[in-house]
Amino acid sequence: MITPNRWQHILGVARKAKFLASKLKPNDDKFAEDMFVLGIMHDLGYEFAESNAAHAAVGGEILKRAGYRYWSEVALHGDETIENMSDELFILNCADMMTGPSGEDFTFAERLTEIAQRFGTEADAYKKCVIETDKLKADSRFLKINKSR
Ligand SMILES: [Fe+2]
Repeated sequence: MITPNRWQHILGVARKAKFLASKLKPNDDKFAEDMFVLGIMHDLGYEFAESNAAHAAVGGEILKRAGYRYWSEVALHGDETIENMSDELFILNCADMMTGPSGEDFTFAERLTEIAQRFGTEADAYKKCVIETDKLKADSRFLKINKSR
């Protein structure tokens, strides 16, 4: 289910994605709008998924059926094994890892601390996020989105 807290997270991710998009591609308003919409779409699989782990694939499938342009970014978000992320997936994953469970504005470190508190540092969910944030930080696009923050 999408809980009220989750809605707050979704809106927070959408606004963060819009902001990060404007850093990555200044003067491209359509890109920023598209990334806001992607943020709104990214967790809708929680309404239908049997498990938290399945929410990305379930959401991607629904959006593919609906003809949504970035359905594969929704399906792949949070997958720490993905190499060569599209700009859209990069923005979405960064925004997701900079937004808390109730929409808080977080650094990667704060987000990881919060995930560790919920699941423990031995949990797969936590370990995957560590790998993912390391990958995002190592990406050449990371410097661009962090300019003047
Ligand atoms: Fe998600």
